[in-house]
Amino acid sequence: MKTMKDDIQSVLYTEEQLREGVKRIAAEINRDYAGKEIYAIGILKGAIIFYADLVREINVPVSFDFMAASSYGKGSTSSGAVKILKDLDFSIEGKHVIIIEDIVDSGLTLSYLLKNMESRHPASVKLCTLLNKPERREVDVKIDYVGFEVPNEFLVGYGLDYDSKYRNLPYIGILKPEVYTK
Ligand code: PRP
Repeated sequence: MKTMKDDIQSVLYTEEQLREGVKRIAAEINRDYAGKEIYAIGILKGAIIFYADLVREINVPVSFDFMAASSYGKGSTSSGAVKILKDLDFSIEGKHVIIIEDIVDSGLTLSYLLKNMESRHPASVKLCTLLNKPERREVDVKIDYVGFEVPNEFLVGYGLDYDSKYRNLPYIGILKPEVYTK
C-alpha cells in the first residue's frame, strides 16, 4: 500500500534537527522575555505543531491564542490582501505578543498580521517562524526568531501541507514534483 513517505523525495529536517531548532529558538525567547509574560499567537493551521513544541520549551508564562488568515490570489499574482478567517479571542492591548508561523514565503501574511496586531496597541510584537524562504519574498518583513533558512522547494510535514495532507509527518520533507504537477 502507498504511504505518505512514498511521496517524499528527501528529508530536509529530521525530528532530531527540528527538536534542536525549536530548543534554540526557545532559548533566545527565554532570554529576551525573562521576567515577562508572553501572548503567543499561532497562525493556523500550519504553525500548530511548531507552536505546541515551542511553548513547552518556554519557561515564562505563555497565554495561548490563534488566528487563521488566508491571502487572496495565493499561487498566482498576489494582491497582498489577507483575509482573517478566525480572529483572536482576547484583546492584546498592553501584552507582549509573539506571532508564531511555520513558514514565511512571500511575507504577505506576516506583514499584514504585523500591521493588524500593531493597530491593537500591544506592549510589543515580535515575529517567530520555524522556516524562512527568502527566495520567495515579495515584501520586506523583519523576523525576530527563525529556525531554519530553507531552499525554494515544496516542503511538507511538521504542520506544512499539500492539498491538506502531510501535516502529520513528524519531519520536514521535500515533496516529489510528480505529486503536485499531475
Ligand atoms: C502558509 C503559512 C503562512 C503563509 C506564508 O499558510 O502558514 O501563514 O502561508 O506565506 P506568505 O509568506 O506567502 O504569506 P497557508 O495559507 O498555506 O495556510 P495553512 O497554515 O493552513 O497551511
